[in-house]
Amino acid sequence: MLVLGIETSCDETGVALFDSEAGLLSHALFSQIDMHADYGGVVPELASRDHVRKLLPLCDQVLSDAGKERAHIEGIAYTAGPGLVGALMVGGSVAHALGYALGVPVLGVHHMEGHLLAPMLEDAPPAFPFVALLVSGGHTQLVRVNGIGEYEMLGESVDDAAGEAFDKTAKMLGLDYPGGPRVAALAEKGTPDRYRFPRPMTDRPGLDFSFSGLKTFTLNTVNAAKDAGEFDDQVRADIALAFESAVVDTLTIKCRRALEQAECKRLVIAGGVSANKRLRAGLEKMAAKLNAEVFYARPEFCTDNGAMIAYAGAQRLVAGQRDGDRIVAVPRWPM
Ligand code: KG4
Ligand code: ZN
Repeated sequence: MLVLGIETSCDETGVALFDSEAGLLSHALFSQIDMHADYGGVVPELASRDHVRKLLPLCDQVLSDAGKERAHIEGIAYTAGPGLVGALMVGGSVAHALGYALGVPVLGVHHMEGHLLAPMLEDAPPAFPFVALLVSGGHTQLVRVNGIGEYEMLGESVDDAAGEAFDKTAKMLGLDYPGGPRVAALAEKGTPDRYRFPRPMTDRPGLDFSFSGLKTFTLNTVNAAKDAGEFDDQVRADIALAFESAVVDTLTIKCRRALEQAECKRLVIAGGVSANKRLRAGLEKMAAKLNAEVFYARPEFCTDNGAMIAYAGAQRLVAGQRDGDRIVAVPRWPM
């Protein structure tokens, strides 16, 4: 089945063509980052309008890149949530209109299921079952994945997501949106062990996370440095490194626990923060000690993209799942 995948949940317009036999044929992405950067974060109305402008041209582009035409499409998958409701409506409307015109089935999929399954697009995909760490701007979750649609929640953040903590730390350090990659780049110049930040909730059992205390600790450290007149480039880099190390250690400790608890030897990391190099290195090191393997998507499929939605949708469409006639747009939607 040739499936067109559409992602418009936030600030990236992502489109892809996935063939259930031949694999990923083409994908295209337009990021609105430059447009939102002036505002320090995503402006929902601007995001929706830009999806309207970019979506159909990107659909035509992936078709032409794959040497296909609209008439070849056999199913359409779109992100139905969670996300910005206006942005989701754009993807859902185009998906349903195209599906109606072409007479093909349409299905809304969960954005986080897309992230979770993105590593399946790589050459050596993980076998089921595996433990997945989902770390994005809105989610920090540990899930045991027994198969497509068979997800067992092991733990999640009780407050901020890891990506959100990265973005807020970036603001405190005077870095632009989106903060994660910029904090990581600044941390490269940091002096190890100049500051020691807490590893929240690692001193007690369980697989839940909390990042809001770490955020406050960062803010207090920034303010103390400012008050002392020491908030220079080196101190900013040192704080970035201390923050990043605390997040990486915390996620690594919980992943080790999750692998042990789930008696699993495969760990998948997905979502925007999984692009973080220090996190990858930390998890690889921990997994090697457990004789476990780590899987992740290529960097461009760690953040939001259409390929992961086309993949997740194709698995479900092939299994016979479809939307009714209604467009589904669910801003808050637990997986
Ligand atoms: O998955 P994603 O693209 O969008 C959501 O569904 O949220 O994740 C975006 C998040 C942002 O918070 C961004 O700062 C973070 O992922 N991120 C990173 C890195 N690249 C993206 N955080 C740390 N290090 C990175 N290299
Ligand atoms: Zn995402």
